[in-house]
Amino acid sequence: MPSTRRRLLLSAGALASASLFTRCASVGGAPAPESAPDPFAGPLADPAFADAVSVSDLHAIALRRMPPMAREFIEGAAADEISLRWNREAYDRIRLDPRVLRDVSRVDTRVKLLGLDLAFPVLLAPTALHKLVHSDGELATVRGAGAAQAAMTLSTMSSVTLEDVARASSGPLWFQLYVQKDRGFTAELVQRAEKAGYKALVVTVDTPVGGARNRQERAKFRLLPGVEMANLRGLPSPGGKKLDTEKDAFMSILPERLTWKDIEWLQSLTKLPVLLKGVLNADDAELAAKQGLAGVLVSNHGARNLDTVPASIDALPRITDKVGGRMVVLVDGGVRRGTDVLKALAFGANAVLVGRPIFYGLSSAGAEGVQQMLAILRRELELAMALTGRASIAEIDRSVLWA
Ligand SMILES: Cc1cc2nc3c(=O)[nH]c(=O)nc-3n(C[C@H](O)[C@H](O)[C@H](O)COP(=O)(O)O)c2cc1C
Repeated sequence: MPSTRRRLLLSAGALASASLFTRCASVGGAPAPESAPDPFAGPLADPAFADAVSVSDLHAIALRRMPPMAREFIEGAAADEISLRWNREAYDRIRLDPRVLRDVSRVDTRVKLLGLDLAFPVLLAPTALHKLVHSDGELATVRGAGAAQAAMTLSTMSSVTLEDVARASSGPLWFQLYVQKDRGFTAELVQRAEKAGYKALVVTVDTPVGGARNRQERAKFRLLPGVEMANLRGLPSPGGKKLDTEKDAFMSILPERLTWKDIEWLQSLTKLPVLLKGVLNADDAELAAKQGLAGVLVSNHGARNLDTVPASIDALPRITDKVGGRMVVLVDGGVRRGTDVLKALAFGANAVLVGRPIFYGLSSAGAEGVQQMLAILRRELELAMALTGRASIAEIDRSVLWA
């Protein structure tokens, strides 16, 4: 059997059988009824987990297991969720143009990214409050990422401190920063991340105010007992009010007046590469390149901020046309298949990030679920590359897309 086929089949077998996390063993019995959810469904894996072969299989499991309020928070987006639909539909519309009779006996998914050697070009996007679906929260996520050889971006709004996550990590970490009204606290947060060994700062710039998250509002989303924004402990909030919802946090911490000058100030605070997250406009990407930023993350924030903006993948080509090759360009939003990763790379992205799929893995089987979700995407990318006749990431360009 040719070695690629053997390797792909082997990795498929490994996916089905590997269990790095013995405490995540499957258990029998029916899932908890929706009316009485266990807010901390982990650490045991769902019985259906062993049969999950796609991210959408993990999604289906997570939909059953996530506490309803957490489910609405995670699944929801802004307003009528039109951009949320577009994030998926846009990938589905893009067709591939496979080449045949090319040597794909070795498919190499490795990439270099801002000094990191990554086994494959998929990273975890910053997402708040992982303890909403698993009692170990981001500790489980970072263990899963490490086991899958993937890098993780930790959110400012994580439910475990950035130091504890760094201690539990075995792979590279980036830190996502929400610049706060309290500049002293912001500077401290950056220094803490740098000291703890985070390798890049991803500054979210698309949230001067929180979006109209109607689904979240209807569900009356509140932090569950025992879940907190751990990095923001000690942050003075207006009127001493406890930060109980993401909206409280946004209103308390986010300065509406964040401008390019503030980014310059941030750049002066740190030696880490600084990337801007939430850029959709090519002129903004150009300004970022001119200001010496290390990269941009083309993102509509999982469609959670401004409804009817285009799918991130539709915004990507204008941005890579303008700044590609001069700075790192990443993309997130709707990536659920290895073919999606291939399409993003074809449009010039250096790598992609996934957001909601983290919760699908975490809720299904804790760290092992996150590992599995990443392993599925990696294997699907290998398959997509082999089937389109591309043996390395460098061979992926727009010619892989049906023009
Ligand atoms: C539940 C949830 C929480 C998120 N929290 C953050 C956050 O704290 N900071 C941030 O910059 N983006 C956050 N995002 C946006 C993600 O980083 C990412 O842009 C988005 O999820 C990508 O789309 P996808 O979920 O379709 O993969 C969050 C997204 C979700 C779904």
